[in-house]
Amino acid sequence: MRQPLIAPSILAADFSHLGKQLAEAREGGADLIHIDVMDGHFVPNITLGPLVVEACRRATELPLDVHLMIQAPERFIDRFARAGAACLTVHAEAAPHLHRLLQMIHHHEIKAGLAVNPLTPLTVFEEALPYLDRALIMSVNPGFGGQAFIPASLSRIARLKKLRDALNPGCEIEVDGGVVPENSGSLHRAGTDILVAGSAIFNQHASVRENLAALRRGLPTS
Ligand code: DX5
Ligand code: ZN
Repeated sequence: MRQPLIAPSILAADFSHLGKQLAEAREGGADLIHIDVMDGHFVPNITLGPLVVEACRRATELPLDVHLMIQAPERFIDRFARAGAACLTVHAEAAPHLHRLLQMIHHHEIKAGLAVNPLTPLTVFEEALPYLDRALIMSVNPGFGGQAFIPASLSRIARLKKLRDALNPGCEIEVDGGVVPENSGSLHRAGTDILVAGSAIFNQHASVRENLAALRRGLPTS
């Protein structure tokens, strides 16, 4: 099984030194940069918009993995795609016309992802997987960084992996929320291809490089 990619979430970064934090992530071996967009409607928090995505695009060569936690995301696909997203992930709970939405994303020749909240049935993936480049399992309730991992997410990843292997082996499985060195190994074994981590990477306890290494140490070496 291939080592998972690591996607630091800038939600936990120091925004007064964002360029520096992005450089540290790249130097420490991050594979993607995860950007959390929240609108105060779909989730009870407001974060950032296309301007910050554009600034990240200028500051790093790493692909930008943009997680849209917004209601009616179809209104903003063009803006975020033009801002430089390499992948746009929308929530199954936030839009009724998912097929059209995924087409809109692909129209920009970027990757399309679909995210589900912790208790949303995985059955949506039975239909959606053929259209997806990325399938995102939320392992906390979206809206805030630094929350505890919901243990049932592990078996959800294993079940999603079975569906993915059968319906679209090229689709990447991503997990987001409460990822720490203590669970990165079991998340990998369950079938995760991309680990998103915010507070485990950007924190006061250690450098970004050390934290990335700790997450990788939690993973098997081959
Ligand atoms: C939560 C966001 C996550 C968040 C993860 O709604 O989608 O990407 O930044 O933060 P940690 O890793 O601290 O749980
Ligand atoms: Zn996220």
